[in-house]
Amino acid sequence: MSLFPKKNLFCLFDSVVPSRYILKFRKFVFFEPFMGNDIANRGRLSHYGCDRRKEFAKNLRKIRKETELLLEDIEAYHIYMAVKKTQKVPGDIAEVGVYKGGSAKIICSAKGDKTLHLFDTFEGLPKVDDIDMVWPFYEGKFAASYDSVRNYLKEDSNVHFYKGIFPETAGPIEDKRFSLVNLDVDCYESTKSCLEFFYSRMNPGGIIISHDYITAPGVKKAFDDFFEEKTEPVLETAGSQCLVVKV
Ligand SMILES: C[S@@+](CC[C@H](N)C(=O)[O-])C[C@H]1O[C@@H](n2cnc3c(N)ncnc32)[C@H](O)[C@@H]1O
Repeated sequence: MSLFPKKNLFCLFDSVVPSRYILKFRKFVFFEPFMGNDIANRGRLSHYGCDRRKEFAKNLRKIRKETELLLEDIEAYHIYMAVKKTQKVPGDIAEVGVYKGGSAKIICSAKGDKTLHLFDTFEGLPKVDDIDMVWPFYEGKFAASYDSVRNYLKEDSNVHFYKGIFPETAGPIEDKRFSLVNLDVDCYESTKSCLEFFYSRMNPGGIIISHDYITAPGVKKAFDDFFEEKTEPVLETAGSQCLVVKV
């Protein structure tokens, strides 16, 4: 057994240089191209002129001031548009991986009257497997205050919270159908159990979107394995997401 298991090294490094500062630093134009993130860089919403995108960008700036949001602008826009465009699909919306409520707030800005179910341990990532051990993912990372998140979203209607490890908390939504599911759980086991739970409950035309398909090997493996024998292709998008439209 190593004296310095990866998890401890990640924790130590993360407490010295928190990952959120690295992500901000990465956005400097002179630095980002060297890290291979120039697609996301070129795709910044500020490069687009249409009114809807300007409105979205204004709201996104507001959300970033109110809370910590772990998405690129373009990734946030993917979620926003997916929610808007699936309003015509019957069913509820769910998010697993809420953290401080930033992505949930984006969903709320586009969902209309739809019901939104929000799942998180609020104690950070559960046990991670070896495949998930890439910085900055380790057990306990991304803990957030349940009460603060509830308070942050208190003005938004038809929003339900479930605290604990998914799918142990999924009982109340077992009989529901879904139009949109946003996954942001960073690791293999969580992603796999989310896909197993939600896939058969998606209505045709419904969208499953996930963060970290590019950045977290466990997320990519869970999607690629699950959809290998299925009809639906897994679409890798700009930024680090993937999405699947249920046939
Ligand atoms: C990266 S954060 C989510 C970030 C958020 N979506 C945003 O954009 O700001 C990942 C979250 O997934 C949660 N999580 C991971 N696996 C989970 C599981 N099986 N059940 C509940 N929550 C889980 C963690 O607690 C953590 O808050």
